[in-house]
Amino acid sequence: MSERQRWTAVDEYITAALCERDEVLEAALAASDAAGLPAIAVSPAQGKLIYLLARLVNARRILEIGTLGGYSTIWLARALPPDGQLITVEYEPKHADVARANIAKAGLADRVDVRIGDALDTLPRLAGELAHEHAEPFDLVFIDADKARNADYFTWSLRLTRPGGVIIVDNVVRRGELIDADSVDPGVRGARRLHEVMAAESRVSATTIQTVGAKGYDGFTIAIVEQ
Ligand code: SAH
Ligand code: DHB
Ligand code: MG
Repeated sequence: MSERQRWTAVDEYITAALCERDEVLEAALAASDAAGLPAIAVSPAQGKLIYLLARLVNARRILEIGTLGGYSTIWLARALPPDGQLITVEYEPKHADVARANIAKAGLADRVDVRIGDALDTLPRLAGELAHEHAEPFDLVFIDADKARNADYFTWSLRLTRPGGVIIVDNVVRRGELIDADSVDPGVRGARRLHEVMAAESRVSATTIQTVGAKGYDGFTIAIVEQ
């Protein structure tokens, strides 16, 4: 068994033991696949993790950057109370269509607002709504879009998150290439810039956790916004 096969088998063991893998989530993945979307959603164990983090901060308002077919969206929205809200931002109209259908089938359409557009347009708009008191800050932000701009998404997310809230960034270890200072890979450069910006930011306390599993070797950053 190769290392990668073992990571996948352990992921399957964990998922079977502890992670709900219900028909709704399976159907969301199947519909995304049938529509030709790439198979890059969070794994079930990762979906459960972001769900648990949302529960831990009693999230009532969640922001997601990068919807794809709505798989991670469904995990996060399930952590919300019935009057909670999740806004998810997606650049590709086709992805947003698939996600909306998946979210509706999951019975979560009342809580989830899929906003089509470039996150760097939508995030300033959300900050404007907050500044004019037309909206409340978020309790949790999940950043999972184009990796080159993770530092920018983080900076906007910080403005949009309440003290004590959580910002999570997916795909920041990149097969370990995070340590390659001269990498030309935009995702690696984005992950390094994210770490630099976070290190210089006294308003957050953060760490990055390396992960292996069905999606290979990667990791995520978790930051809490200081009071
Ligand atoms: N969070 C999803 C996976 C997201 S994949 C899950 O785990 O289920 C990344 C998504 O980000 C893709 O759908 C891509 O179209 C979207 N994306 C890429 N660049 C973007 C941008 N600038 N603004 C908004 N969404 C973007
Ligand atoms: C990939 C994985 C992700 O989790 C993601 O959000 C985007 C791309 C990938 O493996 O290519
Ligand atoms: Mg991801």
